[in-house]
Amino acid sequence: MNILVVGGGGREHAIIKKLRENNSVKLIFCLPGNGGIAEEADCVPIAATELDGVIDFAGAHDIDFAVVAQDDPLALGCVDRLHALGIPCFGPDAKAARIESSKVFAKNLMKKYGIPTADYEVFEDPAAALAYLANAKFPIVVKADGLALGKGVLICQDQEEAKAAIRQIMEDRAFGDAGSRVVIERFLTGPEVSVLSFTDGKTIRPMISSMDHKRAGDGDTGLNTGGMGTVAPNPYYTPEIADQCMERIFLPTIRAMQAEGCPFKGCLYFGLMLTEEGPMVIEYNCRFGDPETQVVLPLLKSDLLTIMQAVENETLDRIKVEWSEGAAACVILASGGYPVAYEKGKAISIPRDLPENVTVYHAGDKLTNQGLVTSGGRVLGVTATADTLRQALEDAYAAAGQIHFDGAFMRSDIGRRALAVLEG
Ligand code: AMP
Ligand code: GLY
Repeated sequence: MNILVVGGGGREHAIIKKLRENNSVKLIFCLPGNGGIAEEADCVPIAATELDGVIDFAGAHDIDFAVVAQDDPLALGCVDRLHALGIPCFGPDAKAARIESSKVFAKNLMKKYGIPTADYEVFEDPAAALAYLANAKFPIVVKADGLALGKGVLICQDQEEAKAAIRQIMEDRAFGDAGSRVVIERFLTGPEVSVLSFTDGKTIRPMISSMDHKRAGDGDTGLNTGGMGTVAPNPYYTPEIADQCMERIFLPTIRAMQAEGCPFKGCLYFGLMLTEEGPMVIEYNCRFGDPETQVVLPLLKSDLLTIMQAVENETLDRIKVEWSEGAAACVILASGGYPVAYEKGKAISIPRDLPENVTVYHAGDKLTNQGLVTSGGRVLGVTATADTLRQALEDAYAAAGQIHFDGAFMRSDIGRRALAVLEG
């Protein structure tokens, strides 16, 4: 089989490594891919958002199955257009992808179907949004409606900060058209859990839970990033909470999407907060998380391509999705200065003889005549799997410490909170 993967980060690297375990897979094309992915797939320099280029490429290369892994091509209708060519795909169509690409759509869906989430209001007019703040309780959360590279969520401590957020999003258009509407919602507290799931629109199979670490600095300080590390499973996510989530959140969401005429097929990501009032949805993503995928897929025992095909064929109820007993940890090595300004083009050295339980997922690098060099903020994700989380963390950090590029930095406390929960 010839497979097409659209995207080019650590998540796509993890997906491709897993797809490679299926013997029927021959060629994998990755658009655009990166320096590490180039070892397992034919990387072609077509940006994932350059939809015409992606579709032309797919049409010309005898593709048997496509995986659209990145949010913006999904929102732009990449799957709709691949389907129009007769290519089976893993990923939601544009209508279903609205669950991520429009926070207003997602919030209204949850309200209509009684899915627990923070109370909110939607505004299209900045003056009305500013007026609403006069009687609001703080802290409060201001969110741009559309996709904003994970930066469109602003937690505001007081009236002044919230006003500035609304001006930045709606008037200065800091996130472009994503800011034509805003959601203002109640600030919730509690541990966060990421649950990715496979769903064919009718059946849902949650994956093993995980925990992201979004802030740049140790102790959850500093700016928000795309994610500086992950662990799986997430120890806060007990079997009781998993049952509650299935009853109150996962199944109702799948049914709601069906009822709205846009059944969701692909990976539906639930960003949850375990509040005192029970689990609530902070956000949905219409795709695998990054770097959650780099700890979740290494624990998947079943064949990924078989699951993805079952999702496309709507036969997910007929197959088993099995997970390893152990744990996984991923530590991100980032470019100095990330998530603000950082230099690129730094030579990367990775030891050849890393232990077997360690995998280095490449995110922001490229292969040049001089070898591998950095080309992004998050450069590598170093994942280790082990019987225990403690061991996985130790092995991931030991390997990360042997990898070098100028200015590299990582958080030193990935998994610390999770260990405290596990070990008391
Ligand atoms: P997002 O970019 O949508 O993943 O949101 C970034 C982060 O903002 C989330 O992971 C939460 O930590 C935080 N957040 C979003 N909404 C809320 C909320 N209503 N209450 C508290 N924190 C929130
Ligand atoms: N790690 C968060 C996300 O993928 O959105």
